[in-house]
Amino acid sequence: MKYYLTTPLYYVNDQPHIGHSYTTIAADAIARYKRLKGVDVFFLTGTDEHGQKIEREAQKRKIPTQELANQMMNRYKSLWQLLSISYTDFIRTTDDRHKRAATHLFTILYNKGDIYEGRYEGPYCTPCETFVKEKICPDCGRPCEIISEETYFFRLSKYRDQLLSYIQENPNFIMPSYRKNEMINIIGEDLIDLSITRSTFSWGIPIPISGAKDVMYVWFEALINYLTGVGYPDDKEAFERYWPADLHLVGKDIMRFHTIIWPAMLIASGLTPPKRVFGHGWWTINEEKMSKSKGNVIDPFEIIDEFGPDGFRYFLLREIAFGLDGDFSRKALIHRLNSDLANDLGNLFSRVMKMVETYIEGEVPERADGEYLRDIALNIANEIETEISEIRFQGYLERVWALVREANKYVDQKKPWTLKGDDLNPVLYNLLESIRMLSIFLFPIIPNLSVKMANCLGLDEKDLSLIDLKWGGLSPGIKIRYVAPLFMRIA
Ligand code: MSP
Repeated sequence: MKYYLTTPLYYVNDQPHIGHSYTTIAADAIARYKRLKGVDVFFLTGTDEHGQKIEREAQKRKIPTQELANQMMNRYKSLWQLLSISYTDFIRTTDDRHKRAATHLFTILYNKGDIYEGRYEGPYCTPCETFVKEKICPDCGRPCEIISEETYFFRLSKYRDQLLSYIQENPNFIMPSYRKNEMINIIGEDLIDLSITRSTFSWGIPIPISGAKDVMYVWFEALINYLTGVGYPDDKEAFERYWPADLHLVGKDIMRFHTIIWPAMLIASGLTPPKRVFGHGWWTINEEKMSKSKGNVIDPFEIIDEFGPDGFRYFLLREIAFGLDGDFSRKALIHRLNSDLANDLGNLFSRVMKMVETYIEGEVPERADGEYLRDIALNIANEIETEISEIRFQGYLERVWALVREANKYVDQKKPWTLKGDDLNPVLYNLLESIRMLSIFLFPIIPNLSVKMANCLGLDEKDLSLIDLKWGGLSPGIKIRYVAPLFMRIA
């Protein structure tokens, strides 16, 4: 079994913010979950480095464009490292392999007659790198530039019917389902041919047409990265193994590119479109869009510094239903971490560990049958499979929390401090085994804390698996190594 998933490639004109972290953390959680299931995961992320916006930003900063791209690319890479993002490959659109792939695909479409010469005159939004109909960009609300240039067009309109059938025949292609109609409407209204080259600046991949000075339109070229990442066109073995992508995770603002332009490009080149594109919602600050001009951009490095990578990951995935918009605030973040991680999970963990240390000298007792905790845990293993396949992290965590809550209740009911010997041992085993289960279930979302929990039980990351999950995996006789509370309360 394979699973190929991707994040968008992030623009390198500026620093990463929490919105970018969101898509990548979500992708990482899915990748980690699939690996726990034994799936061969290919997880691709990277940076989108061409286009006018980046060229202009470099000019503004008076540095070479590639230098700006290198700086920002490194910034992204350090953020992903801090956040424990387990990507398989990091692609840059300035990589030679990508230039080869984009050129290859362009040539196929050109030779087929799906790319033709023309002239584009109309509004263009440079911050969004989009051709639009209006003078004010409908996406970002900023004024557009009127451009007028010789260009080449891709015959997008020719693929209208095939696109509509692909969407109808593949009900899971566009998710959440409430975004589907919007896309169908766009296709239905007027799907006009797309200008796919620019001739008034040079920061891009030159088109393979002799005598032409154009570079490829940044979106046309960037989308192709999803093919490049898995070996297109040279490594046929890797490509056949991983393509089509199982999932492109993107923000709702870029659904159009991924569910209309991209599948049309693929159908036109004889390739299969991706199986699924999921468009998540946006984070706002006090209900307002984050923007440099408003000065309300949240720096993920600062948040991680203060709350740790797992706290940040947990909040983003737990607080809002994936798909909907959400408001980011320190208050909500602190509240969520205190109530769920410090109180519910943290208390369970530390009180069980302390009891095991003081009552039975820190040694895992004989196996016990788990009573109702066993059924809850094994049931969760089934439920989270559905939650992940529907890409519902909030639901995933709510399910897992049933075990946290029940295990806490179990302590209150059994009152281990009143028990001894054969009455005490099964109770403590059941609690320790519940904690082992939790460290597995939570690994996709809070990997560092999960591994810490597992380490305290004498286990390593490699022991965390969802393959053939059974109650009783924790072996008697292991010495518990409890060091400190898992997650401190934030004042
Ligand atoms: N370069 C293009 C993608 C090309 S993919 C072939 C791009 N880059 S981006 O850096 O502007 O945005 C990348 C992702 O970040 C998008 O999925 C976008 O939705 C997401 N977010 C940007 N701001 C966001 C929020 N405030 N909240 C949530 N996600 C947001 O688009």
